[in-house]
Amino acid sequence: MSDAVCPYRLDPQGADTHGETTLLRAQGPIARVELPDGVLAWSVHDYEVTKEIMGNEQLFSKNPRRNWPAYMNGEISNGWPLITWAAMDTMATQDGVDHARLRKLLLKAFTQRRVDAMKPYIEATVKELLDGLETAGAEGVVDLKGLFHMELPTRLMCDLFGVPVETRAEVLEGGHKNIDTRITAEVASANLDQWQIAISNLVQYKRDNPGDDLTTGMIAAMDEDGSRLSDSEMIGTLHLLLGAGSETLVNALAHASVALMTDRDLLAKVKAGEIPWENVFEETLRVESPVAHLPFRFATEDVEIGGVRMSRGDVVLVDFAGVGRDPAIHGETAGEFDALRADKTHLSFGFGVHYCLGARLAKSAWMSGIPALFERFPDLTLAVERDRLVGQGSFVVNGHESLPVHLYGKPALVA
Ligand code: HEM
Repeated sequence: MSDAVCPYRLDPQGADTHGETTLLRAQGPIARVELPDGVLAWSVHDYEVTKEIMGNEQLFSKNPRRNWPAYMNGEISNGWPLITWAAMDTMATQDGVDHARLRKLLLKAFTQRRVDAMKPYIEATVKELLDGLETAGAEGVVDLKGLFHMELPTRLMCDLFGVPVETRAEVLEGGHKNIDTRITAEVASANLDQWQIAISNLVQYKRDNPGDDLTTGMIAAMDEDGSRLSDSEMIGTLHLLLGAGSETLVNALAHASVALMTDRDLLAKVKAGEIPWENVFEETLRVESPVAHLPFRFATEDVEIGGVRMSRGDVVLVDFAGVGRDPAIHGETAGEFDALRADKTHLSFGFGVHYCLGARLAKSAWMSGIPALFERFPDLTLAVERDRLVGQGSFVVNGHESLPVHLYGKPALVA
């Protein structure tokens, strides 16, 4: 049992997500880490221990307002870079009946039937974005991540929640900052205010201009019976959904694109139907989990788990990027992308009562987006060496800052 190891400071630049997990693994199934401003936490990357933690909401709460003494005592300032993860009043920061109440409000919108019904709309959105790419990238290098991978999920989420086109940038801004672990205290504090104002304005707008969208539906639920959703839960929920829907799927699309662009044999086999697209989806999630270190859970009592002794109120982060590469599950090749591996087990959509609400939608968008992208641009090529891609500036998500590509293959050198 170890409880006094030297904490490893998570890199706010996210420069080497997997290299970092390798170092953490050397500490055992759970590692001691330091978050910005010296806040200590536990990082769990072992598959079995992660399941144990995520499967036990009595022992590992998501609610900082009840189970994180430092937050409850006002020791965590509004300038802390991860403050929104604690301050958001949502299903992701609630337990038990409150969690179930908030989740139930949106559950119906993300059933398989509802997601299947959205397919023609998703395909039309993909087509529109690919048309736009064609125009943007006739010559030279384009940022595939900015123009396609990010655009697809943000469009889907904003359309679902009825966010008017003119205010999309300000509504999404909070979500971008939320995952940027490099931000200064001033930016963090301003962001806390900015997203609350932007989302309050959205709620007011939808009150004045109701539509066939989920925000209008949530307002109706609140007006019918105030005990189903409070004002702060309404704002927190919109913030969570817009961010969780966009900032994750973007990297599932981006990492798959990198894998396919850098392995022509894989691409050829997938296009020929020898390897199902679904295999690429699952293997991408396993080997490049879009979420890296997700804040937060809190131990509700002193507990011994995964070889460490945690105290009540200790902060726990799940290192999803490490869980999918657990050698105890996937052996020595755990870090290699292999769409034909039989066991692609991962927890990249979570586990237990907080299992990702948008998993079906994410899969549907990916299954429409990635095959269509490579159908339209069969010679899509990275414009820089893979190992020159720059990390996203986050230990919360696992991604690249941008993905410079040639849509029509590398141009021939002119003599
Ligand atoms: C590939 C894309 C996605 C990945 C990898 C992903 C990953 C995750 C993970 C790991 C969790 C569990 C967090 C925890 O237990 O602490 C989660 C929860 C959640 N996700 Fe996703 N997600 C994705 C897409 C989406 C989309 C498209 C939406 C929106 C429709 C969404 C909405 C949510 C919500 C609301 C929760 C919280 C559920 C709860 O607390 O009950 N996600 N997601």
